[in-house]
Amino acid sequence: MSEQTESASPTLWEELMSPLNLVLIAIIVYLVYKIIKSNFESEVTVAAPPPSLPKLRKDLTVAEIKKYDGTQPDGRVLLAVNGTIFDVTKGKRFYGPGGPYSAFAGKDATRGLATGQVAASDKEYDDVSDLTPDEVASAKEWEEQFREKYDIVGRLLKPGETPNKYSDDESEDKKSQ
Ligand code: HEM
Repeated sequence: MSEQTESASPTLWEELMSPLNLVLIAIIVYLVYKIIKSNFESEVTVAAPPPSLPKLRKDLTVAEIKKYDGTQPDGRVLLAVNGTIFDVTKGKRFYGPGGPYSAFAGKDATRGLATGQVAASDKEYDDVSDLTPDEVASAKEWEEQFREKYDIVGRLLKPGETPNKYSDDESEDKKSQ
């Protein structure tokens, strides 16, 4: 009589070990494993520092700066403001391909920043002497902001201007070509 009662109400252990529960436990363990693994992977991706490029020190023409729009394998992004070229690679989320300000990548951004237009001229050299005093002041503010945040690469050359020699960084320039 007592045996019958025992088999009618299995212990907790017997309950857990039933084939259906074993399958369910295996599914739960697998899902928990997947969640932990995906969390760990996304943390690793976020934590990975961007690879740092050798410092570039060079004067460039409008035609030469064009290729530094973040689409090259090294992903370097340069832009110019008021004749000074900045390496804005660390702001790639702004200027890189698909970024909100990618129109400035590899370009002279002076006029766009001065006038509040996210667009850059395609002229051989954009003579910005027609800007209003307010626009000039605005471009100057942007330049100051870039000077604080980004490395200077060199000067944007007007047609006919010759590039400066930055002897201290010449070897690095060659490496990054
Ligand atoms: C609705 C208008 C706009 C909004 C809401 C907006 C918002 C923003 C925000 C949130 C940032 C990121 C700031 C940071 O994380 O440091 C940013 C960056 C920037 N914005 Fe705008 N923006 C606007 C219009 C413009 C316009 C018209 C220009 C220039 C023509 C411009 C140029 C820039 C640039 C160059 C950066 C990147 C600065 C850097 O390299 O640190 N923005 N903007």
